[in-house]
Amino acid sequence: MAKVNVALIGQGFMGRSHSNAWGQVNKFFKPPVQAVMHTVFGQAEENPAAFAANWGWQHAATDWEAVVRSPEIGLVDVVTPNYMHAPVAKAAIAAGKPCACEKPIAGSLADARAMVEAARKAGVKTFVWFNYRRCPAVGLAHQLVKQGKLGEIRHVRAAYWQDWAGGAVPLLWRFDKNLAGSGAHGDLNAHIIDVTRFVTGQEIVEIAGAIAETFIKERTLPAGVAAGGIAAGRAGTAAKGRVTVDDTVLFLARFSGGAVASFEAARQATGNQNRNTFELNGTKGSVKFDFERMNELEYYDATLPRAVQGWSTLMCTHGGDHPYVANWWPDAHIIGYEHGFTNQAYDILRVLGGQEPTLPIPDFNDAYQTQRVLEAALISASERRMVKLDEVQ
Ligand SMILES: NC(=O)c1ccc[n+]([C@@H]2O[C@H](COP(=O)([O-])OP(=O)(O)OC[C@H]3O[C@@H](n4cnc5c(N)ncnc54)[C@H](O)[C@@H]3O)[C@@H](O)[C@H]2O)c1
Repeated sequence: MAKVNVALIGQGFMGRSHSNAWGQVNKFFKPPVQAVMHTVFGQAEENPAAFAANWGWQHAATDWEAVVRSPEIGLVDVVTPNYMHAPVAKAAIAAGKPCACEKPIAGSLADARAMVEAARKAGVKTFVWFNYRRCPAVGLAHQLVKQGKLGEIRHVRAAYWQDWAGGAVPLLWRFDKNLAGSGAHGDLNAHIIDVTRFVTGQEIVEIAGAIAETFIKERTLPAGVAAGGIAAGRAGTAAKGRVTVDDTVLFLARFSGGAVASFEAARQATGNQNRNTFELNGTKGSVKFDFERMNELEYYDATLPRAVQGWSTLMCTHGGDHPYVANWWPDAHIIGYEHGFTNQAYDILRVLGGQEPTLPIPDFNDAYQTQRVLEAALISASERRMVKLDEVQ
C-alpha cells in the first residue's frame, strides 16, 4: 500500500481538526495512498511534543522550515494564521511537495497569486480546505444543480454568522490585518463564496455594492498561546491594541449565469454561533442549507403538481446516494463538523493516488478565484462603487 508522510504546520483549532482527520481517514475510507501522521509543528510554548503524543503524530518540531524541507515529508498541511500560508506553502512547493492549505488561501491577493504561480511552475498538486463542500448535504445540492433539478438559478442568498467576537475577546491574530488580511470577510465570506461557486458551478462576475464595519475598534492584547478554539481560553492583558479588520462585511453580487446574490459575514450576530447558510432559488426548484442542521438539505421541487409542492427536509445520510456517507454510519446515524475534514483528507489522498476526488476539490487556483471575489468586495466597500471581477486579477 502506498503511503504519504504528512507534516502538519500549526496546532491550534485547525491543528486539532486536521489531526483528527488524518487519524481517521485510513480507518473509515480505503484511500489509494495511506496517510502517515509523521510530524507536527507548533511554537515551543505550545508544547508540540504533548500535542503529538495526544493526537498520534510520530514527531514534534518547532522549526517549520526544516520540517517542510525534510525528504521524509510527502505532503505539507498548512494550518497557521493566514499571513503564514504563503511562506509555508511556497517553501513546500520549492521542495517539490504537494501542499494542502487552510482557507482563505492567503491574507492578500498578491500572496495568493504568488502561491498559484509557484504551484503552476513547479507542477505540484495543491488543495485548499474549504471543508463545507464535503458535507453530504452540500454535495447533494451541487449534484441537484448539475442534474438541472433547480432549472435556471435566479437568486443566491448566502450568510455566515458567528457571535464569538464580543468586547471581552482579546486582539487575536484574527483581528490584525497584517496577520489575517481581513476579518469576518476572509474568515467567513470566503467559505460561502466558495460553497456557492461550488454548488452553482458559476463564477461571480460583479460586485454591485458592499458595506464593511468594525464595531469594536480596540481590544486587550492576548496572553498565552492558541487554545484550540476560535477564541476560547485566551485571556487579555492590561495593554490594548487597535483592531485593523472588519467585524462584518455584506455585499451584493452577480453570477456568470445571471443569478443575483447577497452575501453576509458577521462575528457579532448574537445567537448565531456557526450559522453557515445558503439558499438557491431556481426556475424548477430551490434548496436551503444551514450548517447548524448539517445533515439536512431543504428541497422544493416546483415541477411537482401544485397540490403537493412544498419544502422537503432531506436527511442526507443514505450511503451510496449521498456522498461520503457509505463510509460512516447507517442511515440517519448522523455526522458532524469533523467529518467534513476527514472527507476532504480522503479526497486529497485520492488525488495523490491519481484518482478523481469524490466531489471537485479546490486547488490554489480555484481558491484564488474566491480570493479575487473577497478583494473585489473590499474595493467595493472602501470606494463605494460597483466592481467588475475583470478589474481584480
Ligand atoms: N476550514 C475552517 O472551517 C477553518 C476554521 C478555523 C480556522 N481556519 C483557518 O485555519 C488557519 C488556522 O486557524 P486556527 O483557528 O487553527 O488558528 P489558531 O490560532 O488556533 O492556531 C494557529 C496555529 O498556527 C501556529 N503558528 C505558526 N506561526 C505562528 C505565528 N507567527 N503566530 C501565531 N501562530 C502561529 C500556532 O502555533 C498555532 O498552532 C487560518 O488560516 C484560519 O483561517 C479554517
